[in-house]
Amino acid sequence: MASFVETAADIAREAGALINTYLERRIGFELKGEFDLVTEADRSSERLIVERLEKHFPSHAIVAEEGGGQAGSSEYRWYVDPLDGTTNFAHGFPMFNVTMALERAGELIAGVVFDPVHNEMFAAERGSGAFLNQQPIQVSKTAAIASSLVATGFPSRKRHMNVNVHFYYQLAMLSHGVRRAGSAALDLAYVACGRLDAFWEFGLKPWDMAAGVLLIREAGGDCSDMYGGPMIMGGPHLLADNGVLHQPMVELFAEIFAGRYRFPLPEMKKESGVRSQESE
Ligand code: IPD
Ligand code: CA
Ligand code: CA
Repeated sequence: MASFVETAADIAREAGALINTYLERRIGFELKGEFDLVTEADRSSERLIVERLEKHFPSHAIVAEEGGGQAGSSEYRWYVDPLDGTTNFAHGFPMFNVTMALERAGELIAGVVFDPVHNEMFAAERGSGAFLNQQPIQVSKTAAIASSLVATGFPSRKRHMNVNVHFYYQLAMLSHGVRRAGSAALDLAYVACGRLDAFWEFGLKPWDMAAGVLLIREAGGDCSDMYGGPMIMGGPHLLADNGVLHQPMVELFAEIFAGRYRFPLPEMKKESGVRSQESE
C-alpha cells in the first residue's frame, strides 16, 4: 500500500498537470474579496484533490483553502492549498505550486509541495527526512545574516495593515537580499533544500505553511514564531530557517518589533527624488 506521502505526491502531480493546462490557456481571474484573486484553476484543482483524498481516506478531515473540504472528528486532518501563488499564476509568473500536508492528532506527519512549472516535487514524512524529486535535501549551513539569502511574503488581503515592510527593509539592508516570490509554500521548500537560508511572514494560513514546516524540520531547520516561541499553525507570524540563523534572526526581529532599526528608512526629497547620502 502506498504511504500517505506517496499518495499525496501522486495527487499533487495530477493537480499540477491540471493547473498547467489552465496556464497554457491563460484563463482569466476574478476578485475573491478585497484584492484577493481566485481563478478557475484554484477551484478545479481543489475539486480534484478533495475528490482523490476522499476516495483514498474517506474518514479523514480535509481543510482546503477554497472551502471544498470536509470537517470530521478524525484525528487525521489534511491541509490543502490547491494553488499557492495564485497572483503569480494569474499573471503568468511561473512561481506557484500545489501543496498538501497531513496532521495526526495535531502533529504534522506528511507533506508535499509540487511545482508544476519546474517539475519539482518536495516531499517529507515525519522521521524519514525531506526529499526533492526523491533525492534527500538539507538546509543550508549559512551562519550569518550578512551572508544569507532570505525570503518573505505579503498577503494579498489587507496589505495596508501589514507591518512587514519594516522587517523587509532591515533584512534587505543586512543580508545578501530578500526574495519575495509570491508563493509561501515554495519559499519554505526552498529553505528546506538550502536555496534560501530563512523565510518569515505574517498571517499565513495553515494550508500555506503546513507542508513547508515539515519539510524544513525534516531537512534539519527550525520553525518558530518570530519571537522564537513555538510555531503555531495559522498563527500570527512564522520564522523558518536553517537552524544556525535562528538565534540571530530572533534577536534582530526583537529589535525591529521594539522599533530599534539598525538602518533608518531613507528620506525622500521631492526635488531630487530618492536621497543619496553620498551625493550630499
Ligand atoms: C499566498 C502566497 C503568497 C503569500 C500569501 C498567501 P495564495 O497564497 O503564498 O506568497 O505571501 O500570504 O496567501 O493566496 O496564492 O494561495
Ligand atoms: Ca496559499
Ligand atoms: Ca491558494
